[in-house]
Amino acid sequence: MNQAFHEPSGHPPAQSIAGGADTPSAPGHGHVLLVDDEAAFQRLGGAFLRNLGHEVTLAGDGVQALAAFAQRRPELVLLDLAMPPHMDPERGLELIPRFAPVPVVVLTGHGDHALALRATELGAWDFLTKPIDPDMLRFVVARGLHKARLDAELATLRAGQALDAQGLDDMGLVGQATATVQLRALVRRVAPTQVSVLVLGPTGTGKELVARALHAHSARRTAPFVAIHCGALSAELLESELFGHMKGSFTGAYRDQAGLVEAAHGGTLFLDEVGEMPPPMQVKLLRFLQEGTFVPVGGRAQKRADVRVVAATHRDLEAMVREGSFREDLFYRLKGVVLRTPSLAERPADIPLLATRFLHRVAHNARLSADALAWLMARDWPGNVRELKAVVESAGALLMPPEREVDAPLLQLASGDMATEAPTPGTETSPAPAGTGPLDAALTELETRMVRDTLAAAGGNQSEAARRLGISRVGLVKKLTRLGLR
Ligand SMILES: Nc1ncnc2c1ncn2[C@@H]1O[C@H](COP(=O)(O)OP(=O)(O)OP(=O)(O)O)[C@@H](O)[C@H]1O
Ligand SMILES: [Mg+2]
Repeated sequence: MNQAFHEPSGHPPAQSIAGGADTPSAPGHGHVLLVDDEAAFQRLGGAFLRNLGHEVTLAGDGVQALAAFAQRRPELVLLDLAMPPHMDPERGLELIPRFAPVPVVVLTGHGDHALALRATELGAWDFLTKPIDPDMLRFVVARGLHKARLDAELATLRAGQALDAQGLDDMGLVGQATATVQLRALVRRVAPTQVSVLVLGPTGTGKELVARALHAHSARRTAPFVAIHCGALSAELLESELFGHMKGSFTGAYRDQAGLVEAAHGGTLFLDEVGEMPPPMQVKLLRFLQEGTFVPVGGRAQKRADVRVVAATHRDLEAMVREGSFREDLFYRLKGVVLRTPSLAERPADIPLLATRFLHRVAHNARLSADALAWLMARDWPGNVRELKAVVESAGALLMPPEREVDAPLLQLASGDMATEAPTPGTETSPAPAGTGPLDAALTELETRMVRDTLAAAGGNQSEAARRLGISRVGLVKKLTRLGLR
């Protein structure tokens, strides 16, 4: 028995119960980086922590520790400062600030209070003295992981609030339409939780973008985001892809192969087009979602993995449940929360902003002319944002330097639309107020059109128009004045 580590009484020897890579880090479990130059302590301490369900990365010195830290950030660092007599604890102390903001627990020799104190001054979060009492280790690690998660959640919330306050988005979900602003708020709200999310919406509306944003705004963001298209494979291949297979389980299975569920361990599994999932697979997926366990194809032993599931589909899943082509129990399991990505037709206010962003990606300082914006607003977008993006990007690519302005004919060319379908540009648009940028001009133009059209549709009844626009009558009157429409 290693002198630096008391064997917990009543436990079997740590080595014989070491958890493997398939040990899940369920809530309360986490990824710990253990930095110790003593091979015996690495082995025993590592095995002890794994046995508690934690994932452990081992490092023998500072260089290894920083490399491991950079490669995959742990949630907690256990750093041994109780170096053998000829070694310098200063080297260990220097490491502490480099792990920030991840909490660091230092291990010091018995009675080394001065060292422990200096370590805490340098930012260490807690310390333990060797020989380590396993109960203390268990307790401190659990508390450290809890703190790490609270810190991460708080940072996410703060960042989100700061961005919301500036009207910006940090998730690639561009748009100022009410529906889009609400969607971003929901993503922020739901992301840090463990609930399953079902993303529903027509093609090209950003369902995958939402799934990635959920991952990026969760504490799982340092672990993988793994996507699988459920419609592209047969039931058998899908099962093997998701849950892995054992050597010899089918022709061509030359070796054991881990599945995507394991690859996503600790992270997010994105089940794209879940509506296409063959019924036999639906059953197996349901079992995994309920119990967190699965059996690889051709295997017997159950495995566990901790993943957060986000599923998406453009199909009408409710209808599929009614028709019996999608399991109702699976449906309810997947829709912990439902997020809907509306079609572009339901949020035309996003078009100018989206188009401007897409254009700037291919042509840094280009702009859209007023007739180009009018054309974009007037067109139907059955392929939604994906289609808008493709058209604007190819129009941007068609610009001939020093040309800087994308106009309606160029968009039409890029879209492949027939010339006769083009709306008459320019004539009905009101001039943009002076001194504003292209985006403001576009938004003003959009506002003008919407207000005017709604008023016309409401037969000139201001109260009715205000109601349809979702604003107060006073707000409408103010708008009419500002837009010069009175
Ligand atoms: N709100 C948005 N802001 C910026 N880009 C967006 C937005 N919505 C969608 N996109 C872009 O549009 C394209 C399509 O988005 P995505 O792949 O997420 O759609 P989807 O709903 O998954 O479509 P499908 O049902 O066809 O798989 C992507 O290039 C994405 O980056
Ligand atoms: Mg998609």
